[in-house]
Amino acid sequence: MNIGILISGRGSNMLAISEAVSSGRIPNSRISVVISDQPGATGIKHANELGIETQIIARNGRTRKEHDREICSVLRQHEVQLVCLAGYMRLLSKDLINAFPKQILNIHPSLLPSFKGLNAQQQAIDYGVKITGCTVHFVDEKLDHGAIILQESIDVLNDDTSESLSERLILREHICYVEAIRRFVSGEIRVEGRLVENVSPVELSAGSSNSF
Ligand code: GRF
Repeated sequence: MNIGILISGRGSNMLAISEAVSSGRIPNSRISVVISDQPGATGIKHANELGIETQIIARNGRTRKEHDREICSVLRQHEVQLVCLAGYMRLLSKDLINAFPKQILNIHPSLLPSFKGLNAQQQAIDYGVKITGCTVHFVDEKLDHGAIILQESIDVLNDDTSESLSERLILREHICYVEAIRRFVSGEIRVEGRLVENVSPVELSAGSSNSF
């Protein structure tokens, strides 16, 4: 499967996905392109070092619709079949979402639906929750809202800061995102509205139908 990854910054999830693709943990796939809306994104440097095709598509004052039109055309040029948002800091336009129906995933650093939006780790600390985590979900038009594929939880410690919590959480994010993508690529996911069911390979070989 051809995977396109959208980033805005560090790109550690992108690197985890790339490693999993190279090792075969995410099977029969390649990263066709990594796109950043931020010219200075360090993730782009890392992707270049790995020999992955990259493209900077800065907003340059354009509307979301115009900006996304260019992103869509680059994804199409690279025949992308799965789009992974990995620290991409902009909402997607309706047109881009509709261009890749049930083919766009995102990872968010909280147990959704709690703590949507920016600084989710700080939001969790400020609220006083004892457990937080990360969520991989399909992308729809609302912020951090689409159907949930996978979640991982971690404890929030008494002396946690946003930094210490983020440092522990990002390691789980890498594992969780890779596993969600593996399931998607392997056709082990069935979606009914908001409900995402994991269909085991055993069920698949027994002839169960799959929506992908
Ligand atoms: C991650 O915490 C991810 O959950 C959020 O943005 C951060 C991106 O980190 N959406 P990285 O760029 O993948 O290192």
